[in-house]
Amino acid sequence: MVQINKIAIIDDEQDMRQSISQWLALSGYETETYARAEDALKVLGPDFPGIVVTDIKMPGMDGMQLLRRLKATDSALPVVMITGHGDVPMAVEAMRLGAFDFLEKPFDPDRMSKLVKQAMNRRRLLLDNRALRNELSSGGKIVEKLLGNSAEMRRLREDILDLGQSDGHVLIEGETGTGKTLVAHALHAAGARAGKPFIIVSCAALDPESLAHRLFGPMHDDEQRLPAIEEARGGTLLMEDVESLPDEVQSRLLKVLNEQGTPAETRIVAVCNGREGEKACQDFLRPDLFYRLAALHVSLPPLRKRGDDVLTLFSRYSELFADEYGCDAPKLTGQEAAQILQAPWPGNVRQLINVAERAVLQNRRGSGSIASLLLEDGDDVHHVVTEEGKPLKEHVESFERMLIDNTMRRHKGSITNVMDELRLPRRTLNEKMAKYGLQRADYL
Ligand SMILES: Nc1ncnc2c1ncn2[C@@H]1O[C@H](COP(=O)(O)OP(=O)(O)OP(=O)(O)O)[C@@H](O)[C@H]1O
Ligand SMILES: [Mg+2]
Repeated sequence: MVQINKIAIIDDEQDMRQSISQWLALSGYETETYARAEDALKVLGPDFPGIVVTDIKMPGMDGMQLLRRLKATDSALPVVMITGHGDVPMAVEAMRLGAFDFLEKPFDPDRMSKLVKQAMNRRRLLLDNRALRNELSSGGKIVEKLLGNSAEMRRLREDILDLGQSDGHVLIEGETGTGKTLVAHALHAAGARAGKPFIIVSCAALDPESLAHRLFGPMHDDEQRLPAIEEARGGTLLMEDVESLPDEVQSRLLKVLNEQGTPAETRIVAVCNGREGEKACQDFLRPDLFYRLAALHVSLPPLRKRGDDVLTLFSRYSELFADEYGCDAPKLTGQEAAQILQAPWPGNVRQLINVAERAVLQNRRGSGSIASLLLEDGDDVHHVVTEEGKPLKEHVESFERMLIDNTMRRHKGSITNVMDELRLPRRTLNEKMAKYGLQRADYL
């Protein structure tokens, strides 16, 4: 962070320049002196970390012209003017042009100190605010992508801006499609690490040996890439699906984290998929690693718990798709809105985006209903046919069981193919099969 402590002093009289400079330097400011306004103008850009004290009467460009030029580049730069004794009209004109204040010659050093202090405080405040706004506008853009007005989503957007500023590792938990990956990107973009490396490694996609190799190396001579933990140095390492992190990789990761200094050179954002009422991330990771990773914790609520956000999201995404396909967005009837609000959305926002897209296409063709889309949502892992009198969770579970069962049968017990098709990490698939009493041997 640049110190905001500079004073540019402009006066054509050398004695005057020097005495002002000495006095202010004694008060702890960093001074620089210029005999000509033209020279000062060259260094006084909009980010100048301080203020200006300038004489008015000078050969060449005078103080008033300088003031005008400075105000044109940075209207918030405080400029203190020095006027000749009794030159009131000049002083009034300077104030009208936006001078911070004026000092009449011969001036009282204490009054000068006081003025300079006020001007410097104003400058600091302004530059701080500017820095903050700049951060928010870059990180802010991606945070704005997180739609929703529910209390949870509003909190989340604020949390991201706060967490983005801090350095601790972060654990993000939530069901599939709730926005975990999007939040991880937002965290990176909202903080000091924006613009630094952002490396993604999926813990479910690699076998334990390749995963350890990708994360920590050692790399062979012919390899172009650094191990992920090095590659992400100064930035963020996004570890997807940490619920699939094999034990041996967990211990190595813990060791690496313990060896890193504070603040951590590589910030880890760990993403954990889990469904409510099932195993939580804490159950998949060794406790010491869990507590290291979960220094900061973000838990994303499932869509069905975000109230009206479902409709907000639906209309926003149908507008986007309508734009893309060059047609109108469907206008929902009350009944359709109710159906959307009540649907269980097991695939969460991702599923909702799919349905919104298909609703737009349907609307363009002029056929089909929202209800049918909600029912025939075949692209998703889950599919709920609502019967009366059964708790939702049971519908979801019976469908899930049926789906895994069908898929296992089609792939003759090949776990890898089923993982691919259902986009499930191995561990989750194993868990679910155990839960539903499905055995691989039965499909071979
Ligand atoms: N609050 C939100 N507002 C707008 N779009 C969202 C929101 N949350 C998620 N999305 C969008 O929904 C889709 C799914 O989000 P994302 O991929 O981040 O979910 P995820 O939790 O990482 O899912 P998975 O567990 O399958 O990896 C993305 O297209 C994302 O941009
Ligand atoms: Mg994701």
